[in-house]
Amino acid sequence: MSHTDDDHGTRRDFLYYATAGAGAVATGAAVWPLVNQMNPSADVLALASIRVDVGAVDPGTQITVLWQGKPVFIRARTEEEIAEARAVEVADLPDPDAFNENLGAVPATDENRALTEDGVWLVQMGVCTHLGCVPLGDGAGDFGGWFCPCHGSHYDTAGRIRKGPAPRNLPVPLASFVDETTIQLG
Ligand code: FES
Repeated sequence: MSHTDDDHGTRRDFLYYATAGAGAVATGAAVWPLVNQMNPSADVLALASIRVDVGAVDPGTQITVLWQGKPVFIRARTEEEIAEARAVEVADLPDPDAFNENLGAVPATDENRALTEDGVWLVQMGVCTHLGCVPLGDGAGDFGGWFCPCHGSHYDTAGRIRKGPAPRNLPVPLASFVDETTIQLG
């Protein structure tokens, strides 16, 4: 399934959820402002690729950018986050063979998910693979990565699903460094 097909399904499901269950998501209030900005104009949707200056993103912090109408998490990870992610046995993961836009179908090792060999940079779509909410970051959840409060999905420091209803790891989009401080998406 292409990203485009996937996106349609996710968006549709999410809108349904937001209408039917918004009142039940008290802890997810921080999720909604961003989602409300996710009605992209045609010119935003048309951008096949964008470049993001990450020069001010320090280890242990992340930024969220909108790309093709969806949030993308760009995180500079700490040594601890990287070590934690690399200590996990892939066979123990709920989604051990996720598709990765940069590498294709590969084991969901931290090495395969990180953008850089040193593991510092992790770029992933900020869209929960359950019904499409935007997970909370900065060490949220039981595994120190991201947490989706909509129905309680916990992602680890490599963005891999570890607990909760989400079936897949956070998708890794096509991304690359084009110079020392600039990441291109797409
Ligand atoms: S949308 Fe249901 S847990 Fe994230």
